[in-house]
Amino acid sequence: MLDLRRFVRDIPDYPQPGILFRDITPMLADPEALAAANEALAEPFLDAKIDIVAAAEARGFIFAAPLAIRLGAGFVPIRKPGKLPFDMHSFAYELEYGTDELQIHVDGVKPGQRVLIVDDLLATGGTMEACCRLLEKCDAEIVGCSFLIHLVQLGGKERLSPYSVHSVLNYDQDDGETE
Ligand code: PRP
Ligand code: MG
Repeated sequence: MLDLRRFVRDIPDYPQPGILFRDITPMLADPEALAAANEALAEPFLDAKIDIVAAAEARGFIFAAPLAIRLGAGFVPIRKPGKLPFDMHSFAYELEYGTDELQIHVDGVKPGQRVLIVDDLLATGGTMEACCRLLEKCDAEIVGCSFLIHLVQLGGKERLSPYSVHSVLNYDQDDGETE
């Protein structure tokens, strides 16, 4: 099994001092690593009868379409304001400084459809919580959330309870890792 951690590049003090950025671009550029990442995101959900894979732009989109194909599902985009052309649900959420907003088409997901939400990174969980709220507005059945990277100490998994959270790589703190 390929060690995907080898393809995550640590960038200290980006985007601001004190932040250690986990850069996945080396993983995306490697054909074997990209395929292994997709497989690892899908693995717990192979028999879960997923109808739709949903994801928020931008980095979530990278994984969502191949994951949807792997699971025999469709893909539904969740976008930042001003990008969707049809009627939409919106959800505004707090950031450390200010607010942000995400949107989904009202008919993107049909009531009762089984949805898996994917993103590259789980940090505070604010982005994924917003995705869950939007899918709840669609009356979707949220089967789970799948992440490539989970920054464990930021509390995102707790914030997303009671939803099922799967993460491929777990980083315990700035210099340490778990699993
Ligand atoms: C990043 C990342 C996740 C989110 C995780 O997205 O891709 O979506 O932050 O952080 P959270 O758990 O604290 O919400 P970002 O909003 O930076 O934008 P991008 O995907 O467009 O690069
Ligand atoms: Mg993102």
